[in-house]
Amino acid sequence: MVQNENMAKSKTQFSCSACGNITTKWSGRCEACGDWNTIVEDTPISSGPSAASLGVSKGRSIPLTDLRTEETPPPRAHSGIAELDRVLGGGLVPASAILVGGDPGIGKSTLLLQAAAQFARKGIKTIYVSGEEASAQVRMRAQRLDLTDAPVQLAAETNLRDILTTLEQEKPQLAIIDSIQTMWSDSVGSAPGSVSQVRAAAHELTSFAKRKGMAVILVGHVTKEGQIAGPRVVEHMVDTVLYFEGERGHQFRILRAVKNRFGPADEIGVFEMTGAGLTQVLNPSALFLSDRGQPSPGSVVFAGIEGTRPVLIELQALVAPSPHSQPRRTVVGWDGGRLAMILAVLEARCGIPFTGLDVYLNVAGGMKINEPAADLAVATALLSAREDTALPADTVVFGEISLSGALRAVGQTENRLKEAQKLGFTTAIAPKGGKSLAVDGITLNQLGDLTSFVGEVFGAG
Ligand code: TYD
Ligand code: MG
Repeated sequence: MVQNENMAKSKTQFSCSACGNITTKWSGRCEACGDWNTIVEDTPISSGPSAASLGVSKGRSIPLTDLRTEETPPPRAHSGIAELDRVLGGGLVPASAILVGGDPGIGKSTLLLQAAAQFARKGIKTIYVSGEEASAQVRMRAQRLDLTDAPVQLAAETNLRDILTTLEQEKPQLAIIDSIQTMWSDSVGSAPGSVSQVRAAAHELTSFAKRKGMAVILVGHVTKEGQIAGPRVVEHMVDTVLYFEGERGHQFRILRAVKNRFGPADEIGVFEMTGAGLTQVLNPSALFLSDRGQPSPGSVVFAGIEGTRPVLIELQALVAPSPHSQPRRTVVGWDGGRLAMILAVLEARCGIPFTGLDVYLNVAGGMKINEPAADLAVATALLSAREDTALPADTVVFGEISLSGALRAVGQTENRLKEAQKLGFTTAIAPKGGKSLAVDGITLNQLGDLTSFVGEVFGAG
């Protein structure tokens, strides 16, 4: 009895709406993820009677199996949207939980409505639950996207209990929940969108999906302010985490797998937002190369790998005398810390200073690059801009730079070269070592360190 009273009196707790970290006191900055103004007051999820009060002997013994037990690979459902199927690791796995995160307005609802229609047309029973738009609005969008013939069933609802009851009766193979932040579970007292609500709703939906063999796709808006919990709060509960990204003003959108229990992470799918919805971009290299006419200083083509696919991407740098006492370092689509490192290596190992110079680096097409293999391409773009010397238009560059100024070989050289050859390039600058694979039509210029690179490509530096 005393125990129960204690439990009913729930203590106040605070959680970070960006990473979900729980603390007992408020502070301006989250200790776990370092974000500012994301800590909000939150009621804890009731955790049920504690193990001690239950007594260990009350548990049920669970069946154990060997590692050896044969497991057939999961059957997968294909949407027919190749860019989506690949990012999912080769199609949708039954009973899996997928999170699709992204900025508001980036096109998550559009993508998922199109995916829902495709799955439904393939005979997969699909329910689309919108907590943000009325059914009429979703239908209007479907009309515009020419999807009205698809047997998708719609609901506009935010009450999780009603949604689960409906899913229980209808037994769909796929349910899409748009968005998890609008869902409201009566097991938690706090407001929709709060960390505990988002967490509880995601937990109920994913465990329901596992139990019933239904795949569930949760939409999560990335939020900047602390009042609404972001998708990172539920990342650990799902099997697959996809982020839909793109620069505002660019029509290109990239669907990126950041976690996947059923396939490779880092796989990307490329889409273009048009008046008639999202269309696939099957040859992303052609897209990221923008319109390359005359070779221009500061512009370099990087032969990259995104997931399992080689992609050529144009990097652009601008270096100009700075009017500021603290020169600018502006990066779009790459890591600012890594840029600082390359500038430091160029100065320390090659004696090429960037003091007093503003440096701007941009990845064309709204792409984001994470690969260290882009180091050498970045250095090339910076030098090309600084020296006002254009690299020949038929050249691609890749390789990692170490702090000593040595160039390090990177993986998948052959795939990078083949992609370059396919798109009409004839020369590649790459680190020594690794497998020096000859690819027909490509002259491979292999260099050991940054100093010899500067000498060879830009003449003495
Ligand atoms: P939406 O899917 O609603 O974004 P999210 O669910 O991520 O918030 O997409 C909204 C934007 O997409 C909106 O600005 C309009 C644009 N859009 C198009 O350009 N073409 C289309 O066919 C559709 C449906 C939307
Ligand atoms: Mg939406």
